[in-house]
Amino acid sequence: MRALRLLLPTLCAAAALTAALRADRADAASIPPTLATAGMAPTPPMGWNSWNKFGCQISEQLIRETADAMVSSGMQAAGYRYLNIDDCWEAPTRDANGNLTTDSTRFPSGMKALADYVHSKGLKIGIYSSAGTGTCQGRPASLDHEVADARTFAAWGIDYLKYDNCNNQKRPALARYHAMGDALAATGRPIVFSLCEWGTNRPWTWGRSVGGNLWRTTGDISDSWGSMVRILDQQEGLEAYSGPNAWNDPDMLEVGNGKMSHDEYVAHFSLWSLLNAPLIAGNDLRTMSDSTRQILTNHEVIAVDQDWGGKQGYKIRDDGDLEVWMKPMHSGDRAVVLLNRGETTSPVAISTKALGLSGGRHSTRNLWTHADASVTDSVSATLAPHTVAMLLVHR
Ligand code: GLA
Repeated sequence: MRALRLLLPTLCAAAALTAALRADRADAASIPPTLATAGMAPTPPMGWNSWNKFGCQISEQLIRETADAMVSSGMQAAGYRYLNIDDCWEAPTRDANGNLTTDSTRFPSGMKALADYVHSKGLKIGIYSSAGTGTCQGRPASLDHEVADARTFAAWGIDYLKYDNCNNQKRPALARYHAMGDALAATGRPIVFSLCEWGTNRPWTWGRSVGGNLWRTTGDISDSWGSMVRILDQQEGLEAYSGPNAWNDPDMLEVGNGKMSHDEYVAHFSLWSLLNAPLIAGNDLRTMSDSTRQILTNHEVIAVDQDWGGKQGYKIRDDGDLEVWMKPMHSGDRAVVLLNRGETTSPVAISTKALGLSGGRHSTRNLWTHADASVTDSVSATLAPHTVAMLLVHR
């Protein structure tokens, strides 16, 4: 009986995932699936992206220095792999052959040389374009140039493409993203395909069918508590659509960008990890403080993000400002985030039964203080405003 009780959440999760996959197929019925990017992201991708901190102020020097910092800071050792260049790398016009070229003032050595440098560090390199006639910053983009642009990216040695949604001429999203998925597949180079469609057309229902490995579920994050929890709220109900090689993406991290408190960044990183979100840092790795580095490299929290127990984390209790989010781990343990969104210090508790575990005694691990403890029937914490406790509750 106990074994059955332990197995039930897993079976339910599997059934929900199967139902979601069926729905995907129905939504994308007219489009043959692109399988080329299957296997590309068995766990949520981890890396860095230039946009949140640097916007258009990017250069090959920044990317090289960031590659160096990714290694020297311990980020690489913690699992961060992809160094992703966002918008504004492109020259303002295509070349005489109609190909995308690199802005030669910002990237005088060209993209191939930069990719070689990043690869020499044991890292991978990502780039950005839009499924539109221009990028969000008005540079040339890839709509109707998918085959040529995918070939260009592959020839440069690109490993990851973030594909945005600006200037899309109101053409159907599925066809626009499918065209690039096919073009990437045709290059024969494994390139992670990151759909940045902002959740407008429910990409979680068709992202897989176009070869997407991750898809943004919302508009852009900004460096504020309000933005972070607004995005969190929009993840509700999406847990059935995520899984190996195909992840919900609640947008990149703001940890270390300076406008939230240390505790708020801890909450942001805990929640994103519980959601199996891609962990794409968005801060200046060259100058980050020790406390920022410690958040981004907390290997016990990262291990939750990288673990697939059949379902990404989801909300199991909502008492207004006080919430509990839970994620089944493949071991049967439960990762739990107790969250205080409000402005007064408050206790938050959840029974072990509500976590899908038995009552009685359970050992726990606090993933931020690294303290082991033992609880009976429930886990609890007293939480200051805008803070979390993140625990592993052993079954
Ligand atoms: C959009 C995307 C952002 C970023 C910018 C770049 O807003 O959603 O993540 O890539 O474009 O212009």
